Amino acid sequence: MRKRRTFKKELSKYDFLTTASETAESMGRDVYIVGGFVRDLILSRKKNEMDFLVVGDGPSFATQFAQRLGISHINIFKNFGTAHFKYNDYDLEFVGARKESYNKNSRNPSVTAGSFEDDIQRRDFTINTLALSLNKKNFGRLIDIYGGYEDIDSKLIKTPLDPYITFNDDPLRIMRAIRFASQLGFEIAEPTLEAITLMRERLSIISQERITDELFKILASNVPSIGLKYLYETKVLHIIFPEIANLAGVEQRKDYHHKDVFYHTCQVVDNIAPKTDDVYLRFAALVHDIAKPHTKRFVEGTGWTFHGHEDLGAKLMKSIFIRLKLPMHKLEYIKTLVKLHLRPIALAKEIVTDSAIRRLIVEADEFLEDLITLCRADITSKNPNKVTKYLKNYDRVMSRVLEVKEKDRLRAFQSPVRGEEIMSLLNLKPSRLVGVIKSSIEEAILEGIIPNTYQASYEYMMANYKRWIDDFNQPK
Ligand code: CTP
Repeated sequence: MRKRRTFKKELSKYDFLTTASETAESMGRDVYIVGGFVRDLILSRKKNEMDFLVVGDGPSFATQFAQRLGISHINIFKNFGTAHFKYNDYDLEFVGARKESYNKNSRNPSVTAGSFEDDIQRRDFTINTLALSLNKKNFGRLIDIYGGYEDIDSKLIKTPLDPYITFNDDPLRIMRAIRFASQLGFEIAEPTLEAITLMRERLSIISQERITDELFKILASNVPSIGLKYLYETKVLHIIFPEIANLAGVEQRKDYHHKDVFYHTCQVVDNIAPKTDDVYLRFAALVHDIAKPHTKRFVEGTGWTFHGHEDLGAKLMKSIFIRLKLPMHKLEYIKTLVKLHLRPIALAKEIVTDSAIRRLIVEADEFLEDLITLCRADITSKNPNKVTKYLKNYDRVMSRVLEVKEKDRLRAFQSPVRGEEIMSLLNLKPSRLVGVIKSSIEEAILEGIIPNTYQASYEYMMANYKRWIDDFNQPK
């Protein structure tokens, strides 16, 4: 593909960028849009955040730019030399070009003012080093020092410098590389991948919140298994989520082997991704078999069993939530899905009692729909006939659920004219007759003779009660 030199036309859609350009001109500053916005513009992905790189002081440019736009609320972070304000739907971030040198034990660099090139070379990946000029002389021109455009075209994640320098500067980038690969469906270049594998222990200086945030971005991507497999291959997964890494491996005993649970899990997560954007439901898919290695047993004549893995898996969730710093209000949801993920299939038999179905309805409660979505995603057979059969089983369970719910709804149905009122209107004492009158009204509603309203029930009762009382008093 021929490289695009200018994005003047695309940028002119954002009228506030003309104002940015005029501000830069009047201040005699060079200003660029850099990073994610440029990458996503080339990829035709929509992004509402723009990062402005100012050669000179970022906040003073931001202040004048905001003034020209009539914006009075602007956040300035003096310590970092950055600024931010919102304009319409856009988050605009500003930073002065810097030269960074990093301390080995911290993510916080010591920063001094630098040139455009100094700043660009310390960025994470070539696809994020692209810049668009906002300067009058070459407005919209693409500046691509590290071949980022070509890497976007060939779907490649690659560091601009020696990857050891880039990852050493900021080990969070180890997670970011894998997250971008998963989000964009890109490959990680071999030397970059090697450095990730060798430097994975450096993640220890990164806060758990940021690691979990990246893990969840991987889960939120269209094909999460791209990221999960990279995490596994580089052994990053062994550090950030060893329980999932432990799912890998297949054992063969006699003629029996079991599916590799890690690759099965990857497929379940991929299966659920198109069905839901809820990252917690996707997380449930990631952890649903987490206790399989703990419960694995070889039973003579039967083969491999994982008896009780769903209960143990649910029990393990609390400590995992604490370690990953996940929000505790989601714990019950994940525990319920893990605990019940085998239940619906056990109820897919021809004859199942109402009470077994009712127990599922009560235990899964508001999570029942999500549980069935998880169960459907859990079908990873390669045999299309089996897949169809299993999916039908879940349809059957769900139609039994609806059936039982409907029965229970009808059972709980009450006449709009209540017992107390029947007694006072008809001057009756508490007796079985009151119940008979009430059920006659309910019956008429269920049969569709009258609508389910107070007025209709009242009129119907007043028109018929004499007959009902006579019938009741007839000797049997
Ligand atoms: N950056 C970096 N190293 C990091 C984080 C960010 O070099 N650890 C640089 C990259 O040039 C990146 C830019 O800062 O493009 C903005 O960072 P951020 O907003 O986190 O990422 P985006 O690339 O904009 O992508 P997204 O918003 O999708 O995460």
